[in-house]
Amino acid sequence: MKLIEMVQETVEYIQAKTKYRPEIAIVLGSGLGALGDSLEEAEQIAYEELPHWKSSTAPGHQGRLIFGLLGGKPVLCMQGRLHFYEGYTQKEITYPIRVMAKLGIKNLILSNAAGGINIDFQPGDLMLITDHINFLGENPLMGPNEDDFGVRFCDMSYAYHPELRKIALEAAAEIGCPLRQGVYVATTGPSYETPAEIRMFRLWGASAVGMSTVPEVIVANHSGLKTMAISCITNMAAGVLDQPLTEEEVLTTGERSGAIFRQLIQKIVEKIEG
Ligand code: HPA
Repeated sequence: MKLIEMVQETVEYIQAKTKYRPEIAIVLGSGLGALGDSLEEAEQIAYEELPHWKSSTAPGHQGRLIFGLLGGKPVLCMQGRLHFYEGYTQKEITYPIRVMAKLGIKNLILSNAAGGINIDFQPGDLMLITDHINFLGENPLMGPNEDDFGVRFCDMSYAYHPELRKIALEAAAEIGCPLRQGVYVATTGPSYETPAEIRMFRLWGASAVGMSTVPEVIVANHSGLKTMAISCITNMAAGVLDQPLTEEEVLTTGERSGAIFRQLIQKIVEKIEG
């Protein structure tokens, strides 16, 4: 079955299940799922129900679509995403983004938990991603081009849309939320990085490291979505502090930043046109 036919089936299933036709989607990263629970007049669809859609196995990822109102505006939240380290292919990881494109989503806000490489950062900081380094060793657009979505050689010069980034900075200033900025480097995981790898990434100009987001951003750009992303710095990256990294720290720091994260995203959603 062609990708576009699969996507159409998923889109039809979703549209039969919800009255909402949002133009903004938000992908919620590890520990940041609570925003999805706070939507008003919410309608939910579990990933298991959806044709051709894989379920998330990662801790802190609930695995459902939530449609509802955020600051009075209709949005779609993905509570839980798929990762390369779970064993999914790049195509499977990015399938939801293809579906979003055909559902009529125009603006995509991605979020993630990330380790702080920039030594000025602190756990709990939020960072607006300005650009990325794909260290996954694969690209989700490899293989025959999906002409129904986009072009063979997708431009990535403005992958993190300048207009959306400007909105994010204005929104952060308005609510008094300090917002860091920097380059995100994606690794496959599931092991965390070594201190030597982190020193290398710092030399490359990366400020934060994580195990997601980059495949989705590539496919979103290929599909013509305006895209932005915010990292929650849940821990300092390996070797920055003389202490080991734990999954618990990642999840609890994400949850502690939940309230300010929600406020920021709501303000951004309010400011997006349409
Ligand atoms: N490394 C990779 N992924 C992460 C980290 C990290 O330090 N923290 C949260 N996700």
